[in-house]
Amino acid sequence: MGNITVELGGRSYPIIIRDGMLPSIGPRMHRLGLRGRAAVVTNALVGGLYGKTVMGSLKDAGFDAVRITLPDGEEYKNVEAVGMVYDGLVAHRMERTSPVVALGGGVIGDIAGFAAATYLRGTPYIQVPTTLLAQVDSSVGGKTGVNHPMGKNLIGAFHQPRAVFTDPAVLKTLDERQLRAGAAEVIKYGVILDEALFAFMEANAGRIFASVSPLSMAIERSCRIKAGVVSVDEREGGLRAILNFGHTFGHAIENIAGYGALVHGEAVAIGMCMAAELSVSLGLCAPDAARRIRSLAAALGLPVHPPDIAPGAFMAALRMDKKVSSGVIRFILPTSIGKVVIREVDERDIKLAIRKSLRDSAR
Ligand code: NAD
Ligand code: GLY
Repeated sequence: MGNITVELGGRSYPIIIRDGMLPSIGPRMHRLGLRGRAAVVTNALVGGLYGKTVMGSLKDAGFDAVRITLPDGEEYKNVEAVGMVYDGLVAHRMERTSPVVALGGGVIGDIAGFAAATYLRGTPYIQVPTTLLAQVDSSVGGKTGVNHPMGKNLIGAFHQPRAVFTDPAVLKTLDERQLRAGAAEVIKYGVILDEALFAFMEANAGRIFASVSPLSMAIERSCRIKAGVVSVDEREGGLRAILNFGHTFGHAIENIAGYGALVHGEAVAIGMCMAAELSVSLGLCAPDAARRIRSLAAALGLPVHPPDIAPGAFMAALRMDKKVSSGVIRFILPTSIGKVVIREVDERDIKLAIRKSLRDSAR
């Protein structure tokens, strides 16, 4: 498996994907020039499985390391959890050069990254993603933050990690629902930029979770795509917005269904199907492309229809999306597999698409 670099001049960093690399994290951090105190942010589940290995590796490499354990779950991705991290960092007298290590899925990565972005106006941090979703997406690109009761990821900062250390071996303990959720983001990369990756997922849908090799290939390919996009547009001035394909509807669904009812990747899968249908209804995309997206999501065991949500509540949640500009909602819409456009869409067309998805869902 190869190394990938997010190219950001002096802030460039490697994504290293290697089976069984967890015990080498301490020496790798040392080689990056990091020293002294360190804090590993995790939760009880992931910490119980891998905390000892990572803490041991840091201590062996000379770090004075402390563990900060947060409650597990999207419902705890909030400012209170960030406060818990600050408390741990202050208690351990972490300095401006002391590294924070995010050991966990996207929730831990986003919280720990945000704490690192803001503690002492910014400290270095390392991503050690342990879910498929975090390995293919959230650990890369420096978006950090937490939810607000009114909307997902409304509070946050861009803060790039110093490195991403990805060990696919940890996915062996991840439950199948979470693996499937991670695969939703791989479908996303296929739809937005890589038809061959999409076709690879179609061809391997039946065995992708049973074997390390196709999964590792999907992780590497996804990271390469994301690294390429972030290297061109770090702060989402343009191109990076395409990484939000499926997320506009998806975030609204997560927000209404309640964080945790649907996991993030499931909401994104539904959101991608809805965005593809919206694109078809606007005449931007052939129905067959939308069918392929829905079929692949279903073949990977992902939901493809929204839960029963009142259309008015759906629209209200969509208006809270971060991409709303001057009251206009923007969508990432596929024009074919491998190509998307960014479009402002009239509320009337969005409402029609929501009603159609809800009708299809009730069938
Ligand atoms: P998660 O972090 O909640 O992890 C899912 C579950 O798996 C948790 O219960 C966790 O404890 C458990 N887990 C993690 N690793 C495990 C392992 N190896 N073995 C057993 N159990 C393990 O969920 P997620 O899907 O990883 O992340 C979702 C979050 O990521 C959302 O909040 C989303 O907004 C965010 N996200 C951020 C970005 C970004 O660019 N920052 C991109 C995509 C998603
Ligand atoms: N997941 C969207 C992004 O990183 O930009």
